[in-house]
Amino acid sequence: MAPKLTVIGTGYLGATHAAAMAELGFEVLGLDIVPEKVELLSRGRVPMYEPGLEELLGRHVAGLEGASGRLRFTTSYEEVAEFGDVHFVCVNTPQKQGEYGCDMSYVDSVVESLAPLLRRPALVVGKSTVPVGSAARLDARIRELAPAAEEIELAWNPEFLREGFAVRDTLHPDRIVVGVESERAERTLREVYATPVSEGSPFVVTDFPTAELVKTAANSFLATKVSFINAMAEVCEAAGGDVVKLAEAIGHDDRIGAKFLRAGIGFGGGCLPKDIRAFMARAGELGADQALTFLREVDSINMRRRGHMVELTRDAVGGALLGKRIAVLGATFKPDSDDVRDSPALNVAGQLHLQGAQVTVYDPKGMENARALFPTLSYADSASEAVRGADVVLHLTEWREFRELDPTELGEAVAVPHILDGRNALDPQLWRKAGWTFRALGRPTA
Ligand code: UDX
Repeated sequence: MAPKLTVIGTGYLGATHAAAMAELGFEVLGLDIVPEKVELLSRGRVPMYEPGLEELLGRHVAGLEGASGRLRFTTSYEEVAEFGDVHFVCVNTPQKQGEYGCDMSYVDSVVESLAPLLRRPALVVGKSTVPVGSAARLDARIRELAPAAEEIELAWNPEFLREGFAVRDTLHPDRIVVGVESERAERTLREVYATPVSEGSPFVVTDFPTAELVKTAANSFLATKVSFINAMAEVCEAAGGDVVKLAEAIGHDDRIGAKFLRAGIGFGGGCLPKDIRAFMARAGELGADQALTFLREVDSINMRRRGHMVELTRDAVGGALLGKRIAVLGATFKPDSDDVRDSPALNVAGQLHLQGAQVTVYDPKGMENARALFPTLSYADSASEAVRGADVVLHLTEWREFRELDPTELGEAVAVPHILDGRNALDPQLWRKAGWTFRALGRPTA
């Protein structure tokens, strides 16, 4: 019989994983300790914007019309322990307050709550991004706490999903990585992932530390790629080169690859920034800090981008920001998401506001989260409302809606037709032809 699955934690990762597993044909029980989330998910709704996720929930959540009924949600650990053969741990591992390390308190509390209730054979599978060494520690703790200790195993199965593509990345992963200590655990996970593997997803079996490291290594590489191209943007600006052309040209070399070479105001979000910092902190604890000193530079190039955008804005309005009207297009850390965690766009908007500018922000999906995080900024309901009377327009998150704006129409609403493209996603010719002064990061001024 197919194993019954539980998914603990229903944020981006957990909600998507639970729905995707139901789509693959499994009976799934999702747990969250926040009753409002469970209530919302049980109605087939998600507390965030993620394309395709509500449709998937609608197909499977028990009680919804026409749904398979394979997916339910609960707040009860007893129910989860009783129900599941495989328990996926999908809770958040944020950056610790005021330091680089990773806050493991949510993962730890899952283990403390679940393990004492495990009275029958089960596989606990960690998916959260954790410092290397956590799996071994949690494995020992589960064995200490679980009544059926002999029959309980742990595996580590990092998740590589991107916000905005979470459903696709979960149903059709680039690769499935499992850190296991027994053939039985490997067999169970092969059964769980049989469909994506049959459709071509590679299945990589490793030990615990390697599985944990694959995730942090992958994110460090991606962060390094973005900071590399942003460093090239700095040099291009100094030398009069064009970083967009440069990226295109080096990207044709498939050893380098064209993806993740978009220069701009840098990376943000709930993963890359905190993951590289937690990785440095963990390497320090292991006595391997020298191996990762380059990540400090990756981080500082990235943070420098935000400051640079503020400087360019100051120049654009004639040297003093006080009282200037600035329209900011984009608040989320990337398009197709409502996530504003560590968003470069909002950080730039906040800095400009602190320096006395009148900043008006518009974002297609991130307004509610942005308002909650930066209540002192002004917000508009559309791009055309945001730019009204602006001395300069900043394009800071590359939503498709902004690429489709009509520069001529917008030009009539602003005080000064001057735009800075912080994401290298707009067409300079189009804007210049419509009479705008157009400036982009790492590109020639005309
Ligand atoms: C990332 C990883 O891609 C994913 O595999 C992992 O599981 C979680 O972290 P995500 O945070 O959703 O996913 O965003 P991603 O698409 O990777 O973008 C991260 C940031 O880098 C964004 O702020 C984006 O704007 C920026 N970025 C990305 C660039 O500035 N330039 C690029 O070329 C690509």
